[in-house]
Amino acid sequence: MSNTETKDVPYKPTSPNSKLDFASVWEYAPAPQDSDFAEVKEKYDLFIDGKFVKPSKGRYFKSTNPANEEVITEFAEATQKDVDKAVKAARKAFEGEWSRISAKERGKYIYRIARMIQERAREFAILESMDGGKPIRESRDVDIPLVAAYFFYYAGWADKLEYAFPGKQPEPLGVCGQIIPWNFPLLMLAWKIAPALATGNTVVLKPAETTSLTALKFAELVKDCGLPDGVVNIVTGAGQTGAEIVNHKDVDKIAFTGSTKVGKLIQSSLAGTDKKYTLELGGKGAMLIFEDAPIDQAVEGIINAIYFNQGHVCCAGSRLLVQEGIADKVIQKLKDRLATLIVGDPLDKNTDVGAINSKEQFETVNKYLELGVEEGADIYQCDCKVPDNGYFIRPTLFTNVSQSNRIVQEEIFGPVLTVQTFRTAEEGIEKTNNTPYGLANGVWTDKGSKIFKVGSKMRSGVIWANTYNKFDPTSPFGGYKESGVGREGGMHGLAAYIKN
Ligand code: NAI
Ligand code: MG
Repeated sequence: MSNTETKDVPYKPTSPNSKLDFASVWEYAPAPQDSDFAEVKEKYDLFIDGKFVKPSKGRYFKSTNPANEEVITEFAEATQKDVDKAVKAARKAFEGEWSRISAKERGKYIYRIARMIQERAREFAILESMDGGKPIRESRDVDIPLVAAYFFYYAGWADKLEYAFPGKQPEPLGVCGQIIPWNFPLLMLAWKIAPALATGNTVVLKPAETTSLTALKFAELVKDCGLPDGVVNIVTGAGQTGAEIVNHKDVDKIAFTGSTKVGKLIQSSLAGTDKKYTLELGGKGAMLIFEDAPIDQAVEGIINAIYFNQGHVCCAGSRLLVQEGIADKVIQKLKDRLATLIVGDPLDKNTDVGAINSKEQFETVNKYLELGVEEGADIYQCDCKVPDNGYFIRPTLFTNVSQSNRIVQEEIFGPVLTVQTFRTAEEGIEKTNNTPYGLANGVWTDKGSKIFKVGSKMRSGVIWANTYNKFDPTSPFGGYKESGVGREGGMHGLAAYIKN
């Protein structure tokens, strides 16, 4: 629709409460991203010691595109023998060539990786959206630029470690085993690999089984950039492969991001060993909206907090706590805004909410939707169109919920928001802190003093004020309670990769 046409369209609200009838006034023509140039092989082998090698048992598993349920490619399943080979390659590189390279040269390799990511950004974005279901607008504008930013940031630290740790001789740990989830595949890889290399370690990384494609594309990039063999090894497989890394005797550190359940398993496997570890687990972030908050800005923030990446975000703002006097207004504005979200093809540049990452996660989220209704909550979903195939869930909000409901306490990891009210700041803080998690929260108010007062009582690693889901490589990230142990990002993220 051209600009002149837009001006002529009469504004006609459909219901007395609705400010904007978006769906019938505007319709977007499809704007698909051309994906033909993003090369996908039929099959990917393991990346060990600078080479692509076949898995020892010759087994492969399929990866699908969750938006249309089509098989995209196959990944190799790494066994204990393959993991051992990868760890040996990482050890050899750690003790050999990588340790002899000066810190300045090490930094240059990381800069080169960052620049090559930028050069191939569009290809990475397309593959990330195809394999994982996230909208191209997000993979293109958020994931991949952040991936480059994390590599640039840590490249800069490589030859300045003595400034990060004054009075110390920072020494690398050795071989780091890194296990990452499926919600931000390449970004989590960057969070793990960039600080590990900057501090002089070598790595064996396992991507998640539903989203390994960009990690293998990254392996191709590592080869192209001339990084010494064995410094970065990528092994694919499911939970068993991850467990082989965790339990390998010659791994010095485990960095894990994923579910709290698996995090606990890893923690108990590591108890009594001298391996270092960082665990970045689940969350149930709250957003506290006070009566004096800029409401339209808050509504935009809430949309971004919970529907970004289909809600597959460990720090998602999945609980809205709104002060009683403005609750009706905020909920109405949220519903109006929900009606404008476009759910569908991740590769369409107009899409706001893409596909749920896998069939399993689709079933999990649907179970929570049923559970919410069983628990007596009122469910609201926009009546937007969703494709017939693929795993799509309409952005959802639950009102009339109570603090003890499972949909309020448990991580759903989908586009589902629960809405509660509060009267006083004390009540809001109490409700915010009353879950097993402590990863991220948000506060919305016009008063800086209130931000500090409330923020200092929120028990979470991250607190956003009048915004949400903002990331920067200089800023540490991590949780309290069942949200994990340790910090990633910033200078804190370096400390996790050097000897005490
Ligand atoms: P998960 O924790 O099983 O998977 C994360 C990674 O851990 C994957 O690479 C997986 O292969 C690996 N893994 C699984 N079992 C392992 C084991 N025993 N030892 C070592 N590595 C292992 O997560 P899943 O099952 O895919 O998702 C289930 C729920 O977890 C989601 O609904 C969500 O609530 C939560 N989750 C949270 C994430 C976060 O960033 N906080 C990320 C992914 C999932
Ligand atoms: Mg996939």
